[in-house]
Amino acid sequence: RTPIFLDVDTGVDDALAIMLAVKSGAFDMLGITTVNGNVSLSQATLNTRKVLHVLAEEAKQKGRDEEAESIANIPVIPGADRPLRRPQYFEHRVHGNDGIGGALADLELPPMRASKQAALIMVEMIKERPGEITLIMTGPLTNLALALRACPELPTLVKEVIFMGGVVTSFGNVTPTAEYNIYVDPEAARNVLQAGFNITMVGLDVTRRALLTREHIESMGDAPLAPLVYDCTRDYMDMYAKRYGHPACAMHDPFAVAVAIDRTVATTEHLYVDVEVNSNLCDGQTVADFQGRWNKEANVHVCMDLNQEAFIERFLHVLKR
Ligand code: BDR
Ligand code: CA
Repeated sequence: RTPIFLDVDTGVDDALAIMLAVKSGAFDMLGITTVNGNVSLSQATLNTRKVLHVLAEEAKQKGRDEEAESIANIPVIPGADRPLRRPQYFEHRVHGNDGIGGALADLELPPMRASKQAALIMVEMIKERPGEITLIMTGPLTNLALALRACPELPTLVKEVIFMGGVVTSFGNVTPTAEYNIYVDPEAARNVLQAGFNITMVGLDVTRRALLTREHIESMGDAPLAPLVYDCTRDYMDMYAKRYGHPACAMHDPFAVAVAIDRTVATTEHLYVDVEVNSNLCDGQTVADFQGRWNKEANVHVCMDLNQEAFIERFLHVLKR
């Protein structure tokens, strides 16, 4: 089992990514760190705890007490409540007011102690286990940029970073050129990409094609998690249908988790990638040097293609079991 930190700004697809990561059994979940992004830090933290609660209850109902206990014990660790330098930019339009499309609205959880220590806790653990820990990032990269600031040698201590963000062969989803996670905190993204991590970018180039449909959810039958998957994707799918003519949910964040579980769901190209941080027109754009025009050493493994069927099959299989 690969030891990981999963860093999330729990919106709809982060919630699905948490389900896949936890239920896959592929990871030793050291912690789920949360970050400002789709919703506020406190809402992202609450959403994360709600999803974990449901997963623990599901395991309990299936008689898997040990699993239920280990899920209940996954630390949820809040991190940055704003980008390094820029104002917050929530994505309620896409993820709903609460970030998970109104799902689990009635679930009440006891309050947790406020802390914003994610970056420092990550650094501490990574130092204790050099070369072992993988970071899967599915929100703006603020927490990792802060960890890097606290420990500049982090890239030599982390096994690898897999992040959902950016786009290099297509258009953006916030501005014509920028993907959301990078757009929200481009300075953080730039620092992370230039730091020398063994890093894989799971961008819109592939995640836009990783689509979950209503038929897929129906195929989950009476699996206990099917109602949650349906509820949290319902509004998103309706919105998607208005734009593209058919209901679906782009599985951005679950696809990053899938890459961490099994590389073969994507093909990558090793490229030099940088982030625009100083342009009214293109802030947050990830620019890849496909033809080596800058003569710079490649710094990012960029996902270029995917096996969509294998991904969805695995996602449904894991959630049903
Ligand atoms: C990314 O932005 C967020 O809205 C999603 O959760 C995902 O991480 C897609 O651009
Ligand atoms: Ca996200």
